[in-house]
Amino acid sequence: MESVIRVELGSQSYDIAIASGSLDQLGAKCAGLDLGKKGLVVSNQAIFKHYGERAIASLQSSGFDVTSCILPAGEQYKTLNSVQKIYNAALEKRLERSATMVALGGGVIGDMTGFAAATWLRGINFVQVPTTLLAMVDASIGGKTGVNHPQGKNLIGAFYQPRLVLIDPQILKTLPAREFRAGMAEVIKYGIIWDAELFAQMEASKRLDQLRYMDQGLLQAILNKSCQAKADVVSKDEKEADLRAILNYGHTIGHAVESLTGYRVVNHGEAVGIGMVAAGAIAVNLQLWEQEEAERQDALIKKAGLPTQLPAGIDIEAIVDALQTDKKVKAGKVRFVLPTQIGAVKVTDEVPADVIRQVLRQMQ
Ligand SMILES: NC(=O)c1ccc[n+]([C@@H]2O[C@H](COP(=O)([O-])OP(=O)(O)OC[C@H]3O[C@@H](n4cnc5c(N)ncnc54)[C@H](O)[C@@H]3O)[C@@H](O)[C@H]2O)c1
Repeated sequence: MESVIRVELGSQSYDIAIASGSLDQLGAKCAGLDLGKKGLVVSNQAIFKHYGERAIASLQSSGFDVTSCILPAGEQYKTLNSVQKIYNAALEKRLERSATMVALGGGVIGDMTGFAAATWLRGINFVQVPTTLLAMVDASIGGKTGVNHPQGKNLIGAFYQPRLVLIDPQILKTLPAREFRAGMAEVIKYGIIWDAELFAQMEASKRLDQLRYMDQGLLQAILNKSCQAKADVVSKDEKEADLRAILNYGHTIGHAVESLTGYRVVNHGEAVGIGMVAAGAIAVNLQLWEQEEAERQDALIKKAGLPTQLPAGIDIEAIVDALQTDKKVKAGKVRFVLPTQIGAVKVTDEVPADVIRQVLRQMQ
């Protein structure tokens, strides 16, 4: 059964359509949206080999004249150089203002394709077909697009909303297990910051890591609720003036851990898992959150196969220092998103450094 979630952004509103097997409906869905006649599907080799032909066949059968642009896989290729390759393909295909770029991939492909679509001829249509759990519940929704600069992640970018996000949960079956777990960190995040029922559903599930093979019903429910949470937050605060900051739950310490370990030892989702455990412990320490609820959070993170301890050898003072360089620091104060109950958080910059140190020591 298809679920449709509307991201309400005035004239830039769009649907997130979630249905098993819907990759074959891509063309029909696009045809209903006045997306021109020409299209460019951007992907990487590993993903395209599984899903490229079906995506292209579906678009062609609905009358689109499409070609593909295959980029190398990996975060290290999320660069302006790769975007240049997309522009070259757009030029070769003579994509006009009415044409459409389709991102068929995870967050890396989605962010780059969105940026290329935002800037090619000052903006052409853009459709997201996310293929990782993280991209389905997070990166494909909300219009943040961009690439990395050699000096930092996501330093170059634009807010640019897609015209459609098409999610086919079947696509997750080929996703490497570690990538699936990384996406679960963001799903758990939505349970804590926004949706207590989502949290309870995951808590009740026996095989969280096997969902995509064994419990399509729960997987679809989790996708629906997570996308709804992101859509709600983004609709209320498109450009991160205020509310959208709560999406950074677990990311403050998570980013520090990720960058201090060179983006290799722990991946993004694992770092967010560690960051949520730390933020939860800080909230308990500041008497904002019940210990028992924090323990339930940590148990769920563990059950999802994510780490709850700091990686071996990481220096606590280095983490505290790294927090100061986070993008979200305002006037020298580090902003934390802290739970007050499962399903609700508050944003504060009043966390003493000694509390951070104490919590991190407990996580060694
Ligand atoms: N725009 C946003 O709001 C936003 C939010 C969060 C993260 N991001 C960005 O997303 C990126 C991370 O994205 P990601 O976690 O999706 O990783 P990713 O795009 O790097 O994909 C992970 C790996 O899985 C492979 N893969 C993807 N889908 C597959 C499938 N269905 N079957 C088999 N293999 C598959 C990819 O080839 C890649 O090797 C980062 O660059 C991050 O900055 C953006």
